[in-house]
Amino acid sequence: MPKENELMEKIVSLCKRRGFIFPSSEIYGGYAAIYDYGPYGVELENAVKQEWWKYMVQFRDDIVGLDSSIFMHRKIWEASGHVSGFADPLTECRSCHVRSRVDHLLEDAGIFADEKMSEEEINKLFFASLDKIKCPTCGKRDFTPVKKFNLLVKSNLGNFTDDWSKDPAYLRGETCQGIYVNYKNVLDSSRVQVPFGIAQIGKAFRNEITARQFVFRTREFEQMEMQYFTHPDKEMEAYEWLKDYRWKFYTDYLGLSEKNLKWHKHENLVFYAKEAYDIEYNFPFGFKELEGIHARGDYDLSQHTKYSGKDLSYMDPRTQEKFMPHIVESSAGVGRTVLAILSEAYTEEDVEGEQRIVMKFPKKLAPVKVAIFPLLKNKPDLVKKAHDLYVALRQQFVCEFDDNGNVGKRYRRQDEIGTPYCITVDFDTLENDTVTVRDRDSMKQDRVAIKELEAWLKVHLNESIK
Ligand code: GAP
Repeated sequence: MPKENELMEKIVSLCKRRGFIFPSSEIYGGYAAIYDYGPYGVELENAVKQEWWKYMVQFRDDIVGLDSSIFMHRKIWEASGHVSGFADPLTECRSCHVRSRVDHLLEDAGIFADEKMSEEEINKLFFASLDKIKCPTCGKRDFTPVKKFNLLVKSNLGNFTDDWSKDPAYLRGETCQGIYVNYKNVLDSSRVQVPFGIAQIGKAFRNEITARQFVFRTREFEQMEMQYFTHPDKEMEAYEWLKDYRWKFYTDYLGLSEKNLKWHKHENLVFYAKEAYDIEYNFPFGFKELEGIHARGDYDLSQHTKYSGKDLSYMDPRTQEKFMPHIVESSAGVGRTVLAILSEAYTEEDVEGEQRIVMKFPKKLAPVKVAIFPLLKNKPDLVKKAHDLYVALRQQFVCEFDDNGNVGKRYRRQDEIGTPYCITVDFDTLENDTVTVRDRDSMKQDRVAIKELEAWLKVHLNESIK
């Protein structure tokens, strides 16, 4: 397998070549830290979101879904603490003008910077540590003073004045605020009682200072978040359950290898959390955060009660006890999950002296499940039979029809997009209504009767990962 950076370059190049992920606005020279998902990327992304939704909502009787809007009342972001506290320390290299996150520069030098440090404190620490720090781009040590830069993205939605930036509408910086402000609506309109959870998938926006590493850190991204509301005494019990449940999502349910996953406990807590763990994935550039699991206490509901003037406490109908629910959350990024799956799936193999690149996606996540080929393009009987089969199977599975080039080339192409099964209609098919089904990973071929094909594919595509 290729080495770290080389592997990342290969994944980025395959994503572009095969239509998974493109840099945004490419014909205009690109747009930093924003990416677009192409035809196979959107299938992969949808599959990730669908599986997350099944696991977090469909399989549970204590969790319901929500889709709140991106734009919300400005006061929500004041109450949440984002307007005052959601900021990263920024410096600029005076020589090459590249901006860096100061906490990252310090961390790379083995120096711990607390999230809660004031601008003055972090300036002191940074400039006292300059002998260990240099610009990651040009290597010089000449930096501008550190400024705390707020990550919320502002807009003029609904504000028609010229100085709208003084009273902006924020694009949401995390999806969970839409859950907190709807928690009473959900309680009043559905049959849930505490403890229960609300899940949602949606876009979030952050003015990230440094934006490298492909879709790992982007300024527009999607989050899959679940907020679980508990009795204060049960918060840490729910937290342990959630950590375990989320770990199993990646290992047992999606089939990521345990050796590529690890826990990271935060000593340096963000402003809303009282305990925080990340699940980290071994990306081509090393172990980095894939998802955050946070015990948030009553911070969110208390803040929204204070700022909105609406009492968000809960009256337990069984015990008549009134309390402010505590919240534990699971927060994962779609882009980071897609990148973890791409990194895990990327495989180079030697097949009879030739290199084969194959994306060994878990079958349930593969963008295309089945490809159907006529053996020869210039035999109308074969083409018609294969096309009829394709039209029938696509009712059930994402399918692709391909009659271009020789069958070997078609296999290589399907291997690169990770299609688990390729079906070839050949001359025997016209005689006995059977086809060959070729397995992506073993490359073995089976002969299967057309009338049994749908059931065969269902069994094989759904087979458990372990
Ligand atoms: N509601 C809690 C919250 O938003 P977070 O640790 O800031 O917590 C949660 O973000 C997850 O969202 C991260 O683990 C990551 O997967 C994803 N995420 C955060 N910022 C991102 C960015 N700039 N680009 C891509 N994904 C991001």
